[in-house]
Amino acid sequence: MDQIQLRTFSDYEKAYAASINDPVKFWEEIAAAYSWQAPWHKTLEWEFETPAVKWFQGGRLNITENCLDRHLKERGADIALLWEPNDPKEQEVRLTYSELHNEVSRFANVLKAKGVKKGDRVAVYMPMIPELTIGVLACARIGAVHSVVFAGFSSNALADRINDSQCVCVLTADGMYRGSKALPVKATVDEALEQCTSVESVIVVRRDGRDVTMVEGRDCWYHEAVVEVDTDCPAEPMDAEDLLFILYTSGSTGKPKGVVHTCGGYMVYAGYSFKNVFQYERGDVYWCTADVGWITGHSYIIYGPLLNGATTLMFEGVPTFPDAGRFWDVCDKYGVNQFYTAPTAIRALMACGDEFVDRAELGALKVIGSVGEPINAEAWHWYHDRVGRGNCPVVDTWWQTETGGIMISGLGNLSPQRPTYAGRPLPGIQPVLLDAESNEIEGDGVEGYLCIKHPWPSMLRTTYGDHERCKNVYFSNYEGYYFTGDGARREEGMYRIIGRVDDVINVSGHRFGTAEIENAINASPLVTESAVVGYPHDIKGQGIYAYVIVDGATQDVQAVRTSIIDTLVAEIGAIAKPDVIQIVPGLPKTRSGKIMRRILRKVAEGDTTNLGDTSTLLDPSIVEIIKADANQLRK
Ligand code: WT7
Repeated sequence: MDQIQLRTFSDYEKAYAASINDPVKFWEEIAAAYSWQAPWHKTLEWEFETPAVKWFQGGRLNITENCLDRHLKERGADIALLWEPNDPKEQEVRLTYSELHNEVSRFANVLKAKGVKKGDRVAVYMPMIPELTIGVLACARIGAVHSVVFAGFSSNALADRINDSQCVCVLTADGMYRGSKALPVKATVDEALEQCTSVESVIVVRRDGRDVTMVEGRDCWYHEAVVEVDTDCPAEPMDAEDLLFILYTSGSTGKPKGVVHTCGGYMVYAGYSFKNVFQYERGDVYWCTADVGWITGHSYIIYGPLLNGATTLMFEGVPTFPDAGRFWDVCDKYGVNQFYTAPTAIRALMACGDEFVDRAELGALKVIGSVGEPINAEAWHWYHDRVGRGNCPVVDTWWQTETGGIMISGLGNLSPQRPTYAGRPLPGIQPVLLDAESNEIEGDGVEGYLCIKHPWPSMLRTTYGDHERCKNVYFSNYEGYYFTGDGARREEGMYRIIGRVDDVINVSGHRFGTAEIENAINASPLVTESAVVGYPHDIKGQGIYAYVIVDGATQDVQAVRTSIIDTLVAEIGAIAKPDVIQIVPGLPKTRSGKIMRRILRKVAEGDTTNLGDTSTLLDPSIVEIIKADANQLRK
């Protein structure tokens, strides 16, 4: 894979030009760096109307052979997975490539013993323990489709996801540690499964040793099942376009949708982008602080690094336990060379004061990355100066669950840097800025809707079980383009992401649809109607601001708040708790009944002087009340 590494900015420029001139030839050369069980016969076939995109058709492969087996001869004794527990006093785990290969094979044999077959969907609802990575790879090993659900989601949210893709098996743990707390996990699965009929088996990893109920015939302990199987599990041959995984993400309408990624293209792009963005060299220790429950964890904790034979660090805990120096202590403990985190974590740690980062060495750091939301200039500089000690490039990586891999970013120290700009597109990526009439906006110093005009190997192929939805959400707004949902600005060929232009809000790098939160709030028996908007939040990037109309009979404001929060925690999870709940007598609606969110956004931002035209409102007086109450709430 070393042959696919770009080493100078001019390498990048040449690769970029080549990828535009002849994308097929370009990706053929990259894909050749991987091991295939059978060669593909058609590199790319595509149209963005239906849409239908196929890469490396006819090619056969297994991504775990590329992540594991391929490295055994030369790197079998290199560390593949480093695991740092929540509690720094607990022993870390170090697995070499050959050990990880064994562990994955054993877990894969447990799945087989439970009757899981190629094409079956497996839900993975686990804390950040080594068995999460092992379990994900075990699914891929036997051709089962993993659907990882972040362990902070509620039982209802888990049930929705299990049902949507009809999972036959769930991988989970008894409980989990998060900072000073131990939390239930298996109990949440049990609750979810009361609403699911497709699940035949549940495999439970022991983590915190709490008491759990085991359902006879359905549930088994991983440590008991694994002693019954052997360590050899041949990798299932997969077609390049077979499903590798489903990952649910929120959009502006309806329930979260299952983004589908396939084996060949995803592999090619995850490996290529990892190598080049982080400029990983053999022996480096790479750490991405994301949870495997999100796409960042899939592509840049598990697949991208392992495809490159890298040492990837997985961290169970939180940035502030035992104190706000934990990230930097862990960097020093392992000599982390590449560090990848989210702006919300950077801002939260920045607010804790410099002493924590100043007391660390951080001498091994070479590249520091950011992902998930726009990074503001202040956080960028703190990250660059304090964490990077002024001599590590910051790679601000823009991408999405749907894109599978990093799309716009600097490449290690090759690229010129500009705070708040993600940078240039990776080779093979053709971003454009469109105006409202779908015209491409040319030139520099311009803003528009960020779209992509040519397929790349790791793009989503569909939304699980509902291809029409994939078409409507991503390919219908601007015909012939993939629409990202983001607005962006271009300056000297570099892109600055402005943020979502749809009804999606980004809270600490987590994506929510406003409709999704409203539906959850409306499930509270005390609520008649609600409208949710995002507003700028110092730490989280965006906060959740909920305007709620309560049932006429309800008077007790505290009871309403508690009910709303409880309902949200039950429907989605604690991550969806609103930052502000404002009880309102009505919502600003047009005569046709449409909520004017523009006004609600302005009020939430604290800008009540400049609300624009309100003449089309059915009852403009409602705005005055909302404004006055908002000012009151702020006091
Ligand atoms: C949305 C995708 C893929 C990583 C985790 C989030 C925003 C992501 C950046 C960045 C500005 C960013 C966009 C995007 N976003 N990275 N570097 N700068 N905004 O994945 O949950 O699929 O969300 O996150 O708005 O559309 P996701």
